[in-house]
Amino acid sequence: MTAKPTVFSELPTDLNRDRLPQHVAVIMDGNGRWAQRRGLPRIMGHRRGVDALKDLLRCCRDWGVGALTAYAFSTENWGRPLEEVDFLMTLFERILRQELREMMAEGVRIRFVGNLQALPPSLQLEIERSMQETANNQGIEFTVATNYGGRQEIMQACRAIAMQIQQGHIQPEDIDEALFEQHLYTRGIADPDLLIRTSGEMRISNFLLWQVAYAEIYVTETFWPDFDRAEFHQALSNYQQRDRRFGKLKAKS
Ligand code: IPE
Ligand code: IPE
Ligand code: MG
Repeated sequence: MTAKPTVFSELPTDLNRDRLPQHVAVIMDGNGRWAQRRGLPRIMGHRRGVDALKDLLRCCRDWGVGALTAYAFSTENWGRPLEEVDFLMTLFERILRQELREMMAEGVRIRFVGNLQALPPSLQLEIERSMQETANNQGIEFTVATNYGGRQEIMQACRAIAMQIQQGHIQPEDIDEALFEQHLYTRGIADPDLLIRTSGEMRISNFLLWQVAYAEIYVTETFWPDFDRAEFHQALSNYQQRDRRFGKLKAKS
């Protein structure tokens, strides 16, 4: 029997269940460097990256984090060599097909955010299928940002709102944060509490620009394929030491 290390299958005892982030977002960076360090082609890093993401999703379920959003492909990533882009598109499609059954069994509700119409048609089909089939699941809310750009998301929201004004449905004064959010890809998903970036880069890279306004940011030097439960434990523990003030003053204890 291959016993799972029990210490990681449940919420580590030093973490406070009541102070877990409800929603964790991850910028899964460093796949290419992970592979290159091993003398492997970059695509091997992407492959291993999928395993890391699958385990993080299970870990969120095991530990009681209700929502996970992962940055899989940015609007800028099209600028990479065609070979790598093609590999990624095929990988996304294959993984979706392979994992749908397990996602159903686990009650995962998957959702994709980004400019999906520009993805290869066969990938769009798998995306549609997975979103439809899992739509009524009650487990973890899993969002995958694919062909996603924060600026592009904000821009298309502006366009949609402008159209509504042009058609006389709303007035400019009706625009407020709540209405604006209705036009973002992430409509209906609460903002992330914790944003994790791997591989040491201290930047947002066009991810969830609107939504991370008050997210706590955690950066680890670890490359994404090596991001495991011990790493997630560290990120959560660090998060629990933060004082989230939201512009106000520290609550008196
Ligand atoms: C992140 O890893 C995955 C994607 C952007 C698709 P990278 O491919 O950016 O890996 P590095 O940053 O070059 O090491
Ligand atoms: C961000 O990583 C995008 C994803 C993880 C999908 P990048 O590797 O594309 O970002 P930069 O180029 O380091 O900013
Ligand atoms: Mg990168």
